[in-house]
Amino acid sequence: MTHVLHRAIGHDYPTAVSGNGIHIRDQNGKEYLDASGGAAVSCLGHSHPDILAAMRAQLDKLEYAHSSFFTSQAAEELADDLAAHAPKGLGHSFFVSGGSEAVEAALKLARQYFVERGEPQRKYLIARRQSYHGITLGALSVGGRERQRQPFAPLLIETHHVSPVYEYRERRAGETPQAYGERLAQELEAKIAELGGENVIAFIAEPVVGATLGAVPAVPGYFKRVREICDRHGILLILDEVMCGMGRTGTLHACEQEGISPDIMAIAKGLGGGYMPIGAMLLHDKLFKTIADGSGALQHSHTYSGHPLACAASLAVQQVIRRDDLLANVRKQGAHLSRRLQERFGNHPFVGDVRGRGLFQGIEIVADRGTKEPFDPKRKLHAAIKREAMARGLMVYPMGGTMDGTRGDHVLLAPPFIVDSGAVDTIVERLGDAIDAAVGK
Ligand SMILES: Cc1ncc(COP(=O)(O)O)c(C=O)c1O
Repeated sequence: MTHVLHRAIGHDYPTAVSGNGIHIRDQNGKEYLDASGGAAVSCLGHSHPDILAAMRAQLDKLEYAHSSFFTSQAAEELADDLAAHAPKGLGHSFFVSGGSEAVEAALKLARQYFVERGEPQRKYLIARRQSYHGITLGALSVGGRERQRQPFAPLLIETHHVSPVYEYRERRAGETPQAYGERLAQELEAKIAELGGENVIAFIAEPVVGATLGAVPAVPGYFKRVREICDRHGILLILDEVMCGMGRTGTLHACEQEGISPDIMAIAKGLGGGYMPIGAMLLHDKLFKTIADGSGALQHSHTYSGHPLACAASLAVQQVIRRDDLLANVRKQGAHLSRRLQERFGNHPFVGDVRGRGLFQGIEIVADRGTKEPFDPKRKLHAAIKREAMARGLMVYPMGGTMDGTRGDHVLLAPPFIVDSGAVDTIVERLGDAIDAAVGK
């Protein structure tokens, strides 16, 4: 009997014993092609020798020093590296141990910024339905998965949710993508008017929605309008790039493809590639200056902020991505993956949509392509697809509740940046077989 409280109690998880490149091997020697990087984490695959060497070198010097006593060379160099490649104005990083912590820090910083500016009446957060921002109470408050929020509702921070950009289901017949984006911008405007622009702290969104919708990008122009609306009301724009950022969509930051930059950005996952738990909140110089000239300290810290080993691993991950020009491979193999998915599923009776950017692709499963009717959620088709994929030695990231938190199924793909076209072909082939087996049952 296990003493671990596993994600699903009673589920029989294989034991992961080793990793090599794009594969993980279990206790029986079975190999799994990691086509989702776990949950869009393992951007360099497993056991990358250069990252392991950088980690060993750091361990030989120093494993840990608390950030209230010391800074470390690793944290300083990582922050320099992030600032050098960050969206405009995001000159500082606050290091944490994962995505939820990065989002918590972003929400706290946003509130503290307005308190220190003499605008303490700003207390509302606006976010989007069908988003995921993490599992801690603040992050869960802004998250938009109703079923996940519901049991904890009395404990959550008041957050107002508007519609996500979800073209496949919510763009009306005859409506252009631009008009659809404009309709959503108007909805945000109306929400701000209802709350009073002077009372809103921030709007938070994922540039490409990951876990909850399955790699859904915005329509052209949407984020430019959001940026303009936030600026007009003095509202902060927080972009959650925990899943879609750090190269996953083919540019280092997903927002580069929208032509905007945020006031605060949350990153994690691909930042450290799974070699150590690490996340970061990047903040705009104007926020930094307000706090620096005001109280002089962000009222938020963790024991493991700026952990030297995590920072050293993460710096090595980012350097290898640049040295090996892996973002070019993300774009190349992303285009190949998208093409192969279209070929395999473009006319599949139970696939309604293929979408995504770079090596961040999703397919939405439907019972009827014409009506877009989903499968009965009682079938838990997403779980069956995961099971069938694992049986075929393939790791993908399926999820249910795509449409409204309860109905709908999708599969998310986020393979390591080091994949080649042969691996992409294998992923699509095994996934096709897994879906056919799951829906056939
Ligand atoms: C967009 C987004 N934000 C935040 C999180 C939370 O990150 P973590 O699980 O590292 O706390 C996730 C995790 O999947 C995510 O996808």
